[in-house]
Amino acid sequence: MAPIKRAMARAFNGVEGIFEYAFGQRNNPFVWLGALGWYFYWIVAASGVYLYIFFDTGITAAYASVEYMTRDQWYAAGIMRSLHRYASDALVIVVVLHLFREFAFDRLRGRRFFAWLTGVPLLAFIYVCGISGYWLVWDQLAQYIALATSEWLDTLPLFGEPIANNFLDNTALGGRFFTLMVFIHIFGPLFMLLLMWVHVQRHSQARVNPPRGLAAGTLLALLVLSLVYPAVSQPPADLDVIPAELGFDWFYLIAYPLLDVIPGGRLWLYLFAVFAVLAVLPWVPPAKRLPAARVNLDNCNGCTRCFDDCPFGAITMVPRTDGLAYDAQPLVNADNCTSCGICVGSCPTATPFRRAGPLRPGIELPHRTIAELRDEVVDATGRCAGRVRVVVFACDTSATDGLESDDTAIVRLPCAGMLPPSFVDFTLKRGHADGVMIAGCAEGDCHHRLGNGWTADRMARRRDPYLRRRVDTRRLLLSWLPAGAARRRRSAMSRFRATLGGLDDE
Ligand code: HEM
Ligand code: SF4
Ligand code: SF4
Repeated sequence: MAPIKRAMARAFNGVEGIFEYAFGQRNNPFVWLGALGWYFYWIVAASGVYLYIFFDTGITAAYASVEYMTRDQWYAAGIMRSLHRYASDALVIVVVLHLFREFAFDRLRGRRFFAWLTGVPLLAFIYVCGISGYWLVWDQLAQYIALATSEWLDTLPLFGEPIANNFLDNTALGGRFFTLMVFIHIFGPLFMLLLMWVHVQRHSQARVNPPRGLAAGTLLALLVLSLVYPAVSQPPADLDVIPAELGFDWFYLIAYPLLDVIPGGRLWLYLFAVFAVLAVLPWVPPAKRLPAARVNLDNCNGCTRCFDDCPFGAITMVPRTDGLAYDAQPLVNADNCTSCGICVGSCPTATPFRRAGPLRPGIELPHRTIAELRDEVVDATGRCAGRVRVVVFACDTSATDGLESDDTAIVRLPCAGMLPPSFVDFTLKRGHADGVMIAGCAEGDCHHRLGNGWTADRMARRRDPYLRRRVDTRRLLLSWLPAGAARRRRSAMSRFRATLGGLDDE
């Protein structure tokens, strides 16, 4: 599986580089696919509510009411109809890309399985909601969908009487199924919203809103599309005539042409197989189980920073149990902890300056302790020679190829967010290096969700624990780049070295 993921990640990095160039790192749509999914959902929901005001839910009058909206009220309900259609299509695009991207960047395995597993039924829901929507227009495309879907459903042993009988000809046509579709099209999205909420329950501060610029630009693009190519109906459905030609929606109806070549029963089987394979992917292969963060109560003052910063909601604050004069203490839920170390970076007691007693912060990763990190910084920088010595704190996801040299020490961390700001102070103040580079994932796209954002805020002295004022920030470089961007990081390092050289000459 790893080579497939690597190849896909390379493809994403390539395409995303172009988008980053066009939109900037912050507004790169690939970084916001899940949030765009929410955004398109809200556009579909809002436009849908508006359309419902004018929509006639009777099978005989539905077509005319949609025509009225499209032609007579093209400037309002017509635009809403197009927005409804195009935002639904956009939802499919972003969700499918989101699925592939989370897979490619391996954000689904181990304790992160939850979002993936709840995403799989969401995918099915999107299709059910979209297909039932096409049905409601009751034009020739709806007729095709009604017939194909009912025949396909009849291959399952679910219904006593074949439901395709409802669509044999105009005399057989009843409103029963149509009413069911209206019901599905209204309650399906409501249930989908509930599932979307469940989907992000293991994410604290889930990013469900894209940045304003991206949101405004996307809405504008949809509006322009709606004005230039308004969504229109095909001729009205007539069950006595087989439509000769159909305008098709490949986003929602992609499986339907397969019914011409694969028997319906077998196509169900393939579809279930695809969903079953998707559902087990978080365990293929099982992730290595790293130990969860551990709390050392004797060094914890209950400040709640670890609780605030954990990206996976793995920490809760509970009443104190050790009798010390603090109200609360953190409790780590090992089932949710991804061992990212971000809580360690947020803990004010994780300071390498500590002299009294062993260095044991209030919270830490048992397999990557702060004491070891301090020793590693001292050892690695001790081996550095040259006029301008730089230490690079790099997260496990970031490329550092070509940075290794006699005057550069590289120290790895699970996430850039694990680095307490006091380590930068320690490294510079104690003369272990002349400059510090923190190398992490692209802005807004931290592999562990929030690590690079918190680090940027802590180093900019906007978030606790702050970088101390005495640190000369010209000697600190934050390098947020996509995973494979080794060349760009080397260039950043060259520029940084030149700056540091200049500072030494001052
Ligand atoms: C309506 C459809 C969907 C919406 C609106 C949606 C939205 C989101 C959002 C907002 C996040 C959180 C991003 C963050 O804060 O970091 C997320 C994460 C995620 N989603 Fe979805 N999603 C949808 C469907 C799917 C599907 C179909 C899958 C895959 C089967 C999926 C898999 C994931 C995974 C693996 C994560 C990240 C988990 C992690 O970082 O640990 N999602 N999604
Ligand atoms: S290691 Fe990461 S996931 Fe685990 S408790 Fe700390 S911040 Fe939360
Ligand atoms: S950040 Fe450190 S001191 Fe504060 S509550 Fe968490 S473990 Fe305790």
